[in-house]
Amino acid sequence: MNSAVISVNDKVVDAPGVEASEGSSGVDIGKLRGTADVLAFDNGFNNTAACRSYITYIDGDAGILRYRGYDIEELAENCKFTEVAYLLVHGKLPDASEQKQFSAFLNYHSMIHEDMQHFFTGLPTSSHPMSILSAMVNTLSSFYPHIMTGDQNFDETAARLISKVRTIAAFSYKKSLGEPFVYPQEDLPYCANFLNMMFCSPIKRYKIEPLIVDALNKLLILHADHEQNCSTLVVRSVASARGNLYAAISAGICALSGSLHGGANQAVIEMLQKIHNDGDNLEKYIRKASDSNDPFRLMGFGHSVYKTYDPRARIARKICEDLFRTLGIDDPLLELAKRLEERALSDDFFIQRRLYPNIDFYTGIIYRAIGIPTDMLTVMFAIGRLPGWIAHWKETFDDGTGKIYRPRQIYVGPPKRPFLSMSDRQGSR
Ligand code: SDX
Repeated sequence: MNSAVISVNDKVVDAPGVEASEGSSGVDIGKLRGTADVLAFDNGFNNTAACRSYITYIDGDAGILRYRGYDIEELAENCKFTEVAYLLVHGKLPDASEQKQFSAFLNYHSMIHEDMQHFFTGLPTSSHPMSILSAMVNTLSSFYPHIMTGDQNFDETAARLISKVRTIAAFSYKKSLGEPFVYPQEDLPYCANFLNMMFCSPIKRYKIEPLIVDALNKLLILHADHEQNCSTLVVRSVASARGNLYAAISAGICALSGSLHGGANQAVIEMLQKIHNDGDNLEKYIRKASDSNDPFRLMGFGHSVYKTYDPRARIARKICEDLFRTLGIDDPLLELAKRLEERALSDDFFIQRRLYPNIDFYTGIIYRAIGIPTDMLTVMFAIGRLPGWIAHWKETFDDGTGKIYRPRQIYVGPPKRPFLSMSDRQGSR
């Protein structure tokens, strides 16, 4: 097991090992500041383990992703999203009776309180669905104040949130169209229910296409968790302060909306559309992306952890090609994306920095083919990520040894200086 002896400021600090069951173990530097009066500095925590976790394992060099020990490829191929949601929250795949009970909870809790509809009425039609989602989820704690982490109640609490988030998302889409809300149907499974709420209308029935339902199940599974990413860190941080589940998930939704994180799938479509409108001028945008002085980045490429092909992107590309071939869909953005990937993967700038397609590169194209509008793409990411966030909230909330998240800083601001009265301040900096 790794352990370290750190010598700094003529002090020697023991850093005991922290053993992993898989992947990198760690060293505990908790005594560093008290013994040698120095802090460990790790910009963006990219090399820092914030916790021990039993939920998800990633090997960024080998392109491995496992939820509770199961490879993502096997889960995406063999499960429904609700089975994987149960796995993440409870740590085991459900047996038939557990799946039946979980599905019953999901159905029973699929409606939102009628009073919540007033919030939709008050919002501008142009509201971004992610801001609607974070606001509505936080409001759920007013309607469902009793939140327990005990197994029985938590099963229902988790199912309630997983079910209502889907309904809120569909209602926000209808709100943007000015169309009446379509209520969930008790006889429809999770993904089919969502599609029906999104695309059925008073004058047009929605024909549920099994291939599209299957693609949606797989896409939500691909998004279901990803260990200590930016938004999950936020969820765990709220849980470490004993914040309630709805408040933590609402905060996670806000973090996910950033364009470098979950907002990237929307940014990928906008980028592909821009390149397409610019005559599919690949070379121009590869050059811009490779120019460190140009803020343009190839959205959907690169990753903080994966330094090889993101296994989820590989699955997403196959889902996309299978769906488009079977349904005879022809989207110029897919052909452009494949050519862009091929060109980037042969470019020294990308090769040297080990930049590969990530989860967001192909998923937006699939959602677009299903009919999901661009500004709803990150909402789809949030619906998928919800079971992972819930599992991390519970793991943090239940962790009796856990501490409130409180990193330190390296202060680089002004030293102590004399106070200036208003008359002395003219021209001062
Ligand atoms: C998600 O953490 C997770 O697990 C997140 C996620 C999840 O499931 O929760 O996987 C979901 O957020 C996926 C990532 C979605 N974001 C994007 O697609 C946005 C585009 N990608 C990047 O902005 C970037 O790759 C990050 C933010 C994803 C990762 O950045 P890193 O690992 O911190 O890398 P970096 O910013 O330090 O970049 C290293 C070098 C730099 O060049 P140099 O300074 O060495 O010259 O690579 C360059 C960067 O400029 N670089 C890119 C690039 N990504 C990195 N150059 C062009 N295009 C890119 N996409």
